Formats: sequence, C-alpha cells, structure tokens
Amino acid sequence: MSVGRGAMVSSALLLAVLAVVLAPAAAAGRSQQDLFRPLPGELSFDLDQLEDLDEPALAPPVGVVARRRRPLTARSYQHAAKMQGAFGIDLFQVLAAHDSTSNVVFSPMSVGTALAMLYAGSRGQTAEQLWAALHLTGEKRELMHSHRRLVRHTKKLARDGIEMVIVSDLFTSEELPLNPKFPRYASGMFNSTVTSVPFDIPYLTAEIINGRFYNATQGVIDSLVSSDMLSEDTQFVLANAVFFRGSWLMQFDAAATAEGVFQSPAGPRPVQMMSTKKVFPIAELYQLNARALLLPYKGEKLGMLILLPNDPAGLDSLVAALNMTVISDTLRKLDGLGDVLVKMPKFDIESELDLQPLLIELGVRDLFDPAVVNMTRVTGQRGAAISTAVHKARLSVSEEGTEAAAATAFVNLFRSVPDPIRPFVVDRPFAFAVLEMSSSAVLFLGRVTDPTPQPEEPQPEPQPDLSALFL
Ligand SMILES: *[C@@H]1O[C@H](CO)[C@@H](O)[C@H](O)[C@H]1NC(C)=O
Ligand SMILES: *[C@@H]1O[C@H](CO)[C@@H](O)[C@H](O)[C@H]1NC(C)=O
Ligand SMILES: *[C@@H]1O[C@H](CO)[C@@H](O)[C@H](O)[C@H]1NC(C)=O
Ligand SMILES: *[C@@H]1O[C@H](CO)[C@@H](O)[C@H](O)[C@H]1NC(C)=O
Repeated sequence: MSVGRGAMVSSALLLAVLAVVLAPAAAAGRSQQDLFRPLPGELSFDLDQLEDLDEPALAPPVGVVARRRRPLTARSYQHAAKMQGAFGIDLFQVLAAHDSTSNVVFSPMSVGTALAMLYAGSRGQTAEQLWAALHLTGEKRELMHSHRRLVRHTKKLARDGIEMVIVSDLFTSEELPLNPKFPRYASGMFNSTVTSVPFDIPYLTAEIINGRFYNATQGVIDSLVSSDMLSEDTQFVLANAVFFRGSWLMQFDAAATAEGVFQSPAGPRPVQMMSTKKVFPIAELYQLNARALLLPYKGEKLGMLILLPNDPAGLDSLVAALNMTVISDTLRKLDGLGDVLVKMPKFDIESELDLQPLLIELGVRDLFDPAVVNMTRVTGQRGAAISTAVHKARLSVSEEGTEAAAATAFVNLFRSVPDPIRPFVVDRPFAFAVLEMSSSAVLFLGRVTDPTPQPEEPQPEPQPDLSALFL
C-alpha cells in the first residue's frame, strides 16, 4: 500500500467492528414509558466517578520486556489486555480451524472492546456467555474500568513515529430510542460519539457511518457497512475502529529489497523480500518448534512479534498451541545479543470477518437470538438481538523510511565477543501479533500464508470468501 510520499512509515494497519440490532416488531407497540421504566436490579453506571487517569510511565527497553511486571489490579489496563488477548487467540484459533489457507488479520482490541460494551449492557445468560467467551474476570465495574484504561493507555502511545486512532461510535435510531443510560455510559466510559441517524433511509445512514470510519482510518476502510444491513427496524449500530501506523525503530533499506521466494501452501510465490542486518531480539521456541522475532516500532512501546514455524507446514499447529502465556513467555525469552539478518516479505493483507458464527462457536449464542437475548440495559426492550457483526481489518508492512537508520535500542546488553550473524528468514507461512509491550495487549493478530499482492477486485467464483465459509 502506498502510504504517502516521503512517509517515514514502515507499517500501517487498521480495522473496525460493528454490531446492529434489529428491534423486533413485537416491541414496537410498547410505550416509551415502558421502554424506560427502570429495570429491577439495574446497575448504576458510575458515570460520576470516572476518574481522570494518569497512566504510569512504562515499558522497559525492548529485549528486557516483560521481565518485570507491575502488580495487576482489577482496574489496571494490563488486566483488560490479558482478557482481550486470550479472547483474541480463541477467535484466531476458531478462524484458523475453519480455513487454513487464507491470510488473516483482525484486532482483538477492537472486537473485545465492542463486546465488552455489549456485556455491560447485558444481563442473565446473555451476559454470562459473553463473560465466559471474553475471558472476563473480576467484578463488572472494575473490569469495565480496566477496558477503559486500556483504550486510553493505547491512545496515548500516539507520538513520534506512531499514529494511533481508536474511535468508538454509537449510531442510534431516531425512531426506536435506546435505554438512555446506554449512550451516556458509552460516551462516559469509552468516549463514544453518539449520533442519531435515519435508519429508515439505509443508503444515507450507511454513507454517514462509512464516512465516519473512512475518516477515522484515513481512507483504509472505505465501506464498513452496506445499506442492506440496515433497515427501519435497526435500533442501533455500535462500531469501533483501531487505526495504527508505525515506523520501524530499525528500518529496512528499500535498496536492499529484492525478489525472493515465499513457500505458500499453494506453492512457491515470488515476493518482494525486504532485508536488513541489525540487532533484533529473537528467540528459539523449542516447545513450539518455531522461532520468534520482534520488530519494534519507534518509541519501543509497540512491536510486531513474528512467530515463524521451523516446519514450513507447521503454522496450524503453532496457532493451535498459542495462548497468552506463550506470548508473554516468548517476549521474556527474546534476546538482542547480536546482529540478525532479517529477511521478510512486504505484504498488504485484508480480512473481512462475519463475527456471528465465530462468536456462536465461542459460546456467545443468546446475543444473536431474539427469543432469548437479554440486553435490556442497552435497548430497554425485549427481543432486540444483534443481527449483524462484521469486522474488517487491513495490515500492510513495508520497509519505508526516509529517515536515516534509527537509534539502536540495545546499548545496555552484555556482550564480550561479537556473535556470529544469525539469519531470520520469513519465507513460509507465519503468525504475527502487534503488541503493546508493557501489557502484551494484542492490537492486531493474524497470519500470512501468501504475501503476494491480492487482486483488487475479488473474482466472483474462485475467490476465497471468509463469510461464505460459515453459512
Ligand atoms: C434479564 O436477566 C435478568 C437477570 O437475570 C432478569 O432478572 C430479567 O428478567 C431478564 N430479562 C429478560 C428480558 O430476559
Ligand atoms: C474523545 O473524543 C473526541 C472526539 O469525538 C476527541 O476529540 C477526544 O480527544 C476524545 N477524548 C479522549 C480522552 O480520547
Ligand atoms: C474528516 O476529518 C477531518 C479532520 O481530520 C475533518 O475536518 C472532517 O470534517 C472529517 N470529515 C468527516 C466527513 O467527518
Ligand atoms: C499455553 O500453551 C502451552 C503450549 O501450548 C501449554 O503448555 C500451557 O499449558 C498453556 N497455558 C495455559 C495457561 O493454558
């Protein structure tokens, strides 16, 4: 992807998630008063007590990451990072089990945050199912604060060389009002903008929603919803986007990029292989029969972890063995003890996921079933279930960087004799995770099976269509 002339960008990624609720015809007869009658046991949303948080300074230098951990408290952003990461890995594994060949990219943080908001508005079994699938632990109010802190903490990573935009939007119906506490909660807790839209004019509403996300993602996601997802029965759309663009701390020299070969499951593919030789943190993961490489971004608070199976056909079993312990253990094992010759393909991949069948497989069933859904705190009415849940993501990696090679990060490592140069050649299917280093928060997660450019216009028949797999 071209990211602009003279950009010092080495990597750009983003995504968005969406949920739509259809108000059932049966509820249409209820009066406004019924809809807003306080429900028994209604939780008070604690809006007045939202503290202004000062997040602590963090992140030891890359290479010693995760050796020391701040004590976890129920409200700390690390707590939400752990919960979202575990959920994201589950989702990744379900996806991978359905389809072992496509490229995949999605954002556990985006999906996890949107679902946590729905969890806050759910009760009974609907809430219990979300609780289990999202790996939630702790008291509800605390864990929502923890999610909120994670979003705020992540937004603050935007600085030199890092762009980070996280937006949350709640679009509400002019005709079918929500429980008024929910928009207040969404804006107070997650800084969501709340916009009333004419769902009875679907094309116009789709334009409004898509325009918002086109903007928030700097044009990378240009069509999040289609007008056929919307109708006069739509009560709300909850959407969020995570946009991230980071410059590598140690950039690849474009002049060193050359044609190389990537062993995709469909056979060898010619790729543009980037190449650089610097001190990168790497690790041997004997138990997983794989190796890991960390490509830190400028500022060293974020990095892309590459998990490369030793066996060219080993990605499926590697993905199946992932969990948050593996990720944090891997970060702990990384060492930057010598030059590494990194060869890695440029890639630009996109995924569009229909989340509904994936979430159902993870046990989140009632949310989608009007007969049993219990989201009374959101909608104030019975039978309003989620009808559509889509997620789009795109991630691209390039060597770009007009700045001269960046500062080296590993000055304090003990080394008496220079180590031999170790190669790390990413020439077979691999998994990646874009992580916030102090908490292992997973911003993006995915796998690359074929980094060659995909056709712009999907062909009608033979093209892999993720959503079709789950019909
Ligand atoms: C939702 O769950 C709560 C708590 O379990 C229960 O009291 C309430 O009756 C349920 N509402 C609906 C509409 O099922
Ligand atoms: C909240 O959102 C507004 C725009 O909708 C933005 O200007 C502001 O910076 C956000 N605040 C935080 C704390 O993210
Ligand atoms: C898009 O964002 C720019 C600022 O980045 C703002 O001026 C403009 O109004 C936005 N457009 C829409 C349609 O929201
Ligand atoms: C994480 O995965 C590793 C390797 O697959 C396994 O040995 C370990 O028991 C798992 N840990 C947890 C907490 O599930």
